[in-house]
Amino acid sequence: MKILVVGSGGREHAIIRKLAESPKAEKIYAAPGNGGIAYDAECVNIGAMDIEGVKAFAKENAIDLVFVAPDDPLAAGMVDALEAEGITAFGPRANAAEIEASKVFSKDLMKKYNIPTADYAVIDNADEAIKYIEDKNEFPVVIKADGLALGKGVIIAEDFEMAKDAVKSIMEDKIFGASGNKVVIEEFLTGPEVSVLAFTDGKTLYPMVSSKDHKRALDGNKGLNTGGMGTISPNPYYSDEIAEECMKTIFMPTVEAMNKEGRPFKGCLYFGLMLTPKGPKVIEYNSRFGDPETQVVLPRLKTDFVDIIMAICNETLADINIEWSEEACACVVMASGGYPGSYQKGIEITGLDENGQVDGATVYHAGTALKDGKLVTNGGRVLGVTALGANLDEALDKAYAAVKKIHFDGVHYRTDIGRIL
Ligand code: AMP
Ligand code: GLY
Repeated sequence: MKILVVGSGGREHAIIRKLAESPKAEKIYAAPGNGGIAYDAECVNIGAMDIEGVKAFAKENAIDLVFVAPDDPLAAGMVDALEAEGITAFGPRANAAEIEASKVFSKDLMKKYNIPTADYAVIDNADEAIKYIEDKNEFPVVIKADGLALGKGVIIAEDFEMAKDAVKSIMEDKIFGASGNKVVIEEFLTGPEVSVLAFTDGKTLYPMVSSKDHKRALDGNKGLNTGGMGTISPNPYYSDEIAEECMKTIFMPTVEAMNKEGRPFKGCLYFGLMLTPKGPKVIEYNSRFGDPETQVVLPRLKTDFVDIIMAICNETLADINIEWSEEACACVVMASGGYPGSYQKGIEITGLDENGQVDGATVYHAGTALKDGKLVTNGGRVLGVTALGANLDEALDKAYAAVKKIHFDGVHYRTDIGRIL
């Protein structure tokens, strides 16, 4: 098969390396890919949002499968557009991708179908939002921009002043653009967070092994929210009992709710959960593989990945048996100094071998470019250094030992991934 993967981050690198393990994958392209992905796939100069470009490339090159990895092309209808041309595409259609693209849609869906989540209100006017928060007078309070905001559209306000500023910056200053036309104001929940990615063809759902993201920029869960600074799998808090409960109260009800709404979800459905004292609740849905969760989940997959993806596209997932390794996996993100704020690009990365890898770990490239034959930084999150181990400690030790062999000026990584929960 000829496969085209749309996207350019560490998640896409992990997807490509797993697809490449399948004997069915004859040739893999990435649109646009990045400097490190270029070692494992042929990168083509087509942007991840270029629906017409992807369509034309898939037709000209007789692509058998287009794997759409990021949220924005899914929300923009890339899968719909490819299917309309008879091209097999992995990922939800736009009407199903809305489960991530609109927080208002996802909250209303959960309310309608009794799927456990934080209590909330949807408000489309800044003064009303501020009044609602003042009347409620419960802090902290969680304020979310409705639309996509690179994982940064959530503000947890400790007091009224902070909440007022958050509403103004989202709804009036539009710091997240049109995503902030409406806000969701949510009850603050507490408890360990768990990420569960699931394969689903709209009928059958198989959860993948659990994982845990570390969203804050700095050690001790301090600093700003980021796209994710590191992950571990499995998540130590996610017991078999909790998994069973989630299947019954959250996962299958969500699949069924989407069907009832006439928006069958096919692809990877990501459940961001919080294990609260009142049971597991949904913090967010994503319509795609998580980044950097994918980097610790896919290395544990033993079943042929191409077979699973094709079974989802063909709605025959029930016929597949999926097996996972008992090993643990850890990923440490090496980021550019300053991320998630502004940072420099084009800084040379040293310590990687001629394949962009390092002994003892797998390096998934997130923001790298090749310049004059050298790898340089080209994004906020630069590398995801990942290792499997017999247990979590071993996986973490191996990942951190590999991190120490890699260098670029200004590099920042957390030293407590997997050690703090
Ligand atoms: P989201 O983009 O919705 O996943 O939110 C980003 C992060 O904000 C989550 O991973 C949580 O750590 C935190 N968060 C979101 N909603 C809540 C909530 N209702 N209560 C407590 N923390 C929350
Ligand atoms: N790691 C969180 C996400 O992919 O949204």
